[in-house]
Amino acid sequence: NWTPARIIEDQVDRVREQVGESHVLLGLSGGVDSSVVAALLHKAIGDQLTCVFVDNGLLRKAEGDQVMETFAKHMGVKVIRVDAEDLFLGKLKGEADPEAKRKIIGNTFIDVFDSEAAKIEGVDFLAQGTIYPDVIESAASKTGKSHVIKSHHNVGGLPETMKLKLVEPLRELFKDEVRKLGVELGLPYDMVYRHPFPGPGLGVRILGEVKKEYADILREADAIFIQELHNAGWYHKTSQAFAVFLPVKSVGVVGDGRRYEWVIALRAVETIDFMTARWAHLPYELLEKVSNRIINEITGVSRVTYDVSSKPPATIEWE
Ligand code: XMP
Repeated sequence: NWTPARIIEDQVDRVREQVGESHVLLGLSGGVDSSVVAALLHKAIGDQLTCVFVDNGLLRKAEGDQVMETFAKHMGVKVIRVDAEDLFLGKLKGEADPEAKRKIIGNTFIDVFDSEAAKIEGVDFLAQGTIYPDVIESAASKTGKSHVIKSHHNVGGLPETMKLKLVEPLRELFKDEVRKLGVELGLPYDMVYRHPFPGPGLGVRILGEVKKEYADILREADAIFIQELHNAGWYHKTSQAFAVFLPVKSVGVVGDGRRYEWVIALRAVETIDFMTARWAHLPYELLEKVSNRIINEITGVSRVTYDVSSKPPATIEWE
């Protein structure tokens, strides 16, 4: 019968058999799936695993440090952190179209990952955090059954550019099973039960052109929102919650002057399958606290709004 411990044991055996003495490369994003793969492979093959963590400058506040802390420091996993913020922001400069931005971010990730991989000798395998729903989705999209609205880069892409054999130990598992494996493997609860975060990161939460100034403001606003959701016991009652940077200037009155500053939108939804979603009915007191903190603590923001749109038609992300 199914227990996380059994699945882990079984997968550890399978991975050892599959890779033998070879070396395995993994793109670690800090998301649930790649994190669980990292922990699982570390258990199975230890130093034969090398993870590459790409900091694209579009991550949440302190995210890169947390990934290094958890994996490199606490677990002793070999992780190469690549600071590619300047590269990503440089490529995104002047681009305002959401799908073009997604492509740039996806392609730049592959370039960076490829060039890191080329520096490591004797790698034969590429590990991926593919889970069962990804397998279904990509099979459906190949036969034209599903309409792919957004270019996700979770499945595919990498193997074509690299002649590596795949290791995909989560291929038969659903998300809730993957989470249970993560907990059993000793990953922090907060990492395993964190809301999903899109591959293009803050790149699709800064509307239009991405700039470092915007990303820095958004990181602070998002961190305040998430922290207050946790404090109020609302984080796990929502399926996904985040801040969005609106590149418009709105007026605020400070002293006897009028100041034109940026706007932050807050989005929080409840959903089972992410195909439809209802905006979360957060308490007014919570929204008030978040709004006050964002406006008082972040220079350059003078207005906060709350998104009360359902999906459909409004998607969860703003781009
Ligand atoms: P939407 O905005 O389409 O989002 O309602 C549904 C879910 O998908 C996530 N999402 C993405 N994930 N790459 C990803 O890896 C993307 O380009 C992307 N766009 C949306 C979104 O965060 C939500 O969980």
